[in-house]
Amino acid sequence: MFKKEVYIKRRAELKKSLGSGIVLLLGNGEAPVNYFDNTYSFRQDSSFIYYVGLNSPDLAYMLDIDNDKEYLFGNELTIDDIIWMGNLPSLKERAEKAGIVTVLPLSDMITLTDKKRKIHYLKPYRYRNQIILSELLGKNIPSIKENFSVELTKAVIKMRLIKSDEELIELKKAGEIGYAMHITAMKMCQPGVKEQEIAGMIEGLAISQGNRVSFATILSMNGQTLHNHDHSGILETGRLMLCDAGAESNSCYASDFTRTTAVGGTYSEKQKNIHNIVLQALNESISSAKPGVTYKSIHRNAYKIIFEGLRSLGIMKGDTEDALNVGAPALFMPHGLGHAMGLDVHDMEDLGETYVGYDDEIQRDTMFGYRSLRFGKRLEPGHVLTVEPGIYFVPQLMEKWEKEKINADFINFNEARKYLNFGGIRLEDDILITKEGCRLVYEKRLPVTVEEIEKAVKD
Ligand code: GLY
Ligand code: MN
Repeated sequence: MFKKEVYIKRRAELKKSLGSGIVLLLGNGEAPVNYFDNTYSFRQDSSFIYYVGLNSPDLAYMLDIDNDKEYLFGNELTIDDIIWMGNLPSLKERAEKAGIVTVLPLSDMITLTDKKRKIHYLKPYRYRNQIILSELLGKNIPSIKENFSVELTKAVIKMRLIKSDEELIELKKAGEIGYAMHITAMKMCQPGVKEQEIAGMIEGLAISQGNRVSFATILSMNGQTLHNHDHSGILETGRLMLCDAGAESNSCYASDFTRTTAVGGTYSEKQKNIHNIVLQALNESISSAKPGVTYKSIHRNAYKIIFEGLRSLGIMKGDTEDALNVGAPALFMPHGLGHAMGLDVHDMEDLGETYVGYDDEIQRDTMFGYRSLRFGKRLEPGHVLTVEPGIYFVPQLMEKWEKEKINADFINFNEARKYLNFGGIRLEDDILITKEGCRLVYEKRLPVTVEEIEKAVKD
């Protein structure tokens, strides 16, 4: 948790930007795994952390802007709670750490919620909070989900998108843990090793050094499946292991890196060629990221590099601009170049990806591939983003495009078919947009060239 002044200032800024009404921020509750007392590890709501900082379940915060009052709702521990969970500081003491003076029991939230006034709340992503809001505001759940405050959503996004110095320290810590996770994965990337063993080892590292993993680890020889959480494979010589993983710092800030390692530490010519195209897309994207440039244009340029690289290998063909205009490279990179990152690995996606990544000026594309870009906005100092180009050979997608002659003028299917068992390569770094350009959030870069990764595996 930061100093209380940080939270006081954030809430004052939020109050100023909204001007009137009641703001209601619900913290999260415990989530049961298979019965009420056996819970997943607790994760507080990120906007609640941002404005209130308190990382424990069953809390809510209310800001009554019109009457210049604020309240923390929660229940003090009972003797039974103390027997089972220990004697924690009182809620009053904890509220003081966030600069909040008035603490009331949760039941008082109902009486203090004046339904005749504008109640600003964020779109609830957990069923528990949907039910609480539904009961509190007397509306059914579909209506609760639809009638969140767009004004509050935009105000929160505006603030959370620009990372402060204290947040950057946390993001760097998350980067440091992510770095250790990936170096471990590279060193374990040997034939005969189970994917599960490596995934478990690096997830353990995340827990031992920080809060948790920032998302379920993606680790597989089948890297062509973009979010592959199946770790049942046993590593084989000649294959690649795609590892996309990150950690949360103890204050819940995220990291998110991807490296693709040749099993045993020696890349084939084919693997090197594809790796080097992805690396060029990564490096050029990073060097062109600076204030004023749209991330949408950087995504398009990554597609250009991928198209021209694959054309040089004979897999794609034709004119670059024509190919980009019809989205032909999306066959080999069907996802976006990156996303905002902060307290969430896909920052504020609960509030609506389009509110986070697009605005009146920069709109989301509708074309396959381009439409998966989560963040297209003009870059500003303080933005933290991932840069994650990739090339994948998805047999079913290749088959579909060939059969339906989709963008057939730009693809040599005969050549592409030679890569059917290739898998996929993705490389991902996390950047901070600065006044001059950008830099890595965690300055020490993971091994990224073929030579560096080969050395990391064999060392
Ligand atoms: N690292 C997983 C993702 O960005 O979707
Ligand atoms: Mn990512």
